[in-house]
Amino acid sequence: MSKKFLILIVLICFFGVYNYLVYTQSQPPTKPLLSTNALQGQKLWQDNNCNSCHQFYGLGGYLGPDITNVYSLKGGDFINAMLNSGISTMPLFHFSDLEKQNIITFLKEVDSTGFYPDKKSIIHKNGWVEISEK
Ligand code: HEC
Repeated sequence: MSKKFLILIVLICFFGVYNYLVYTQSQPPTKPLLSTNALQGQKLWQDNNCNSCHQFYGLGGYLGPDITNVYSLKGGDFINAMLNSGISTMPLFHFSDLEKQNIITFLKEVDSTGFYPDKKSIIHKNGWVEISEK
């Protein structure tokens, strides 16, 4: 058996052991970050492509405004009114009351994760950014 072939066999064995260890490790159970209602709202958000026009933390489409903090800035009633009426470039989606409530819960829970833009963040000389959290 050539030396190269032996090295190849050893490397394949290491690869196998490595993969076994990585993929069979038990993970601590993770709990979803959003409540059940907010998860329903998130699904509506994704299915209706809200993100093609809106942004969270500045990421998304740019036809509509960033709505990371729309819940704390304008409140649930305002969001409800927005979803009831649609407006020039924002389509009217015809959601049921429950669906609207779930979207509002989703936006409320997104809002609770932080500020955007985070005007109170401090940028240190070494590049470290200290964000203000909710
Ligand atoms: C085709 C683009 C488009 C899509 C898709 C869209 N929106 Fe909008 N939305 C807009 C625009 C544009 C505005 C701003 C309207 C205005 O103030 O004149 C807006 C405004 C809003 C506002 C009020 C924001 C504020 O600060 O005044 C909320 C809340 C909102 N949209 C939620 C949603 C949700 C939830 C969805 C998905 C179900 C969605 N939008 C899908 C374009 C869109």
